[in-house]
Amino acid sequence: MKPYTAPPPGRRSYRGLILDFNERTALPSKRVKTALMEAIQGKLQMYPEYGALEMALARYAGAPQENILITNGSDEAISLIFRTFVGARDTVVVPEPSFSMFTQYAKIAGASVVSPPYDTRTGAYPLDQVLAACDRNPKLIIICNPNNPTGTLVSVSDIKRIATRSPRSVILVDEAYAEFSGVTAVSLIAQNPNIIITRTFSKAFGLAALRIGYILANPVFIAELTKVKGPYDVNLLAAIAATAALSDIPDMRAYTTEVMTQSKPMLEAFFRKNAVPFYPSAANFLLIRVPNAVQIEETLRRNGVLVRRQSKPGIENCLRISIGTVAETKRFIRIFARTVCNKSLTPKKVAVFDRDGTLIFEPQDTYQINSVKELRILPGVTQTLRRLTNAGYILVMVTNQDGLGSKGYPRSNFTTVQSELLTRLKKTDVIFRKIYVCPHMPDDNCSCRKPNTSLIDTFLATMNMDRDASFVCGDRASDAGLAVNLGIRYIRTDTNGNLNAAFASFRKENL
Ligand SMILES: Cc1ncc(COP(=O)(O)O)c(C=O)c1O
Repeated sequence: MKPYTAPPPGRRSYRGLILDFNERTALPSKRVKTALMEAIQGKLQMYPEYGALEMALARYAGAPQENILITNGSDEAISLIFRTFVGARDTVVVPEPSFSMFTQYAKIAGASVVSPPYDTRTGAYPLDQVLAACDRNPKLIIICNPNNPTGTLVSVSDIKRIATRSPRSVILVDEAYAEFSGVTAVSLIAQNPNIIITRTFSKAFGLAALRIGYILANPVFIAELTKVKGPYDVNLLAAIAATAALSDIPDMRAYTTEVMTQSKPMLEAFFRKNAVPFYPSAANFLLIRVPNAVQIEETLRRNGVLVRRQSKPGIENCLRISIGTVAETKRFIRIFARTVCNKSLTPKKVAVFDRDGTLIFEPQDTYQINSVKELRILPGVTQTLRRLTNAGYILVMVTNQDGLGSKGYPRSNFTTVQSELLTRLKKTDVIFRKIYVCPHMPDDNCSCRKPNTSLIDTFLATMNMDRDASFVCGDRASDAGLAVNLGIRYIRTDTNGNLNAAFASFRKENL
């Protein structure tokens, strides 16, 4: 198991826009601070009590007090539900991609996890597959509503369908973002007592640092959960802060209204205008699809914005962006437009070249060039590379140098020849952006030797490669294989041939 990737150290003092963990971007209600200041002067030597908070929550959630259990963040709520209900022989249904802790806790319980996939095109919950999975008698079914990271929603009637279809399963409805979506399954609990709802003060109320959440469920479930839970898992300051936050609902509503009715439409309009696809979100975040998430995340970070890159199957090239106030959204749009639009989003034409036998003469007896004396740039090479450069191609060299670094082929032999080659090319304004060398022998079975792509993969992941215009050019089967593996065109040249000839038809079409 991999641990949950928590925010990196130093994040709290980051000076830019912090849009990576779906928190409220504004401070919580002023009443929270006032209540906390008062509380720290009070009886900290005594164990906490939760009566005031439970009463306030009952009013806020529209549920009887006996249906409520306060927890240390909704993370603890989810963990508690798994600890109470799920054992090693059980099956749980966790549609993916979703908040990672569901699967994490299921694995800790030793349960089998069934993960119907969200529709990666629309972000829709896999309702039919979840309903079908009900036949397997799952102990627990997850409905993350709205779902993190897609932001997509399941209707209350569909939640009811699942709960009714599988009455012996616990239906965990995670409503961490319910204040933003305005959708809740609370009214179902009375008729469908297998529904358990988890909620949090970390998002709309802005108390993520204090760790407080709660469970809404039927009283029998609450009684069972209470047996498993520690008596004082929630500390007094968290409880006091939550009570104070609940006493100022207009503050919370002002924030969620600004986010959902002003910032979110503004951000969506911006992404639409720039042809950046995003999932339909009912929460305070948007999941956008970009061609090169690694690079864009880094570009934004360097320019003062933290966003969260996704890595789960189906959403590998997606970034999740929390939505804050209107002023912050305007700032985000300015930074994104300046640093990402027209730069990172524009497809890049990449020309990948083999070296020996393609760019420079390769002796057919030793296949090795050991000294500058032997270096001969092949005919048509500088001309072709110049044309490609002028046409906006990024030049990359990928070469197998069998046994480089061994006694028979010292590294210095290669580097002297290579730097002379690069110097000569540079004089004609030809520059290779990246040069990748595999030093292994064929028998080494390494993962970097052409036609494998591992040398160049990381570089390509940083950009949006224009697959139609990009190509590999070389003289051997391994070069052709590299082109196939990269999914781009192959331009074959004769070993030690003339590159102008190899590019004759390409030139007509493209240059
Ligand atoms: C869907 C979902 N559930 C639960 C949580 C946990 O929130 P907390 O433990 O802060 O209440 C998060 C946090 O990001 C979340 O996105």
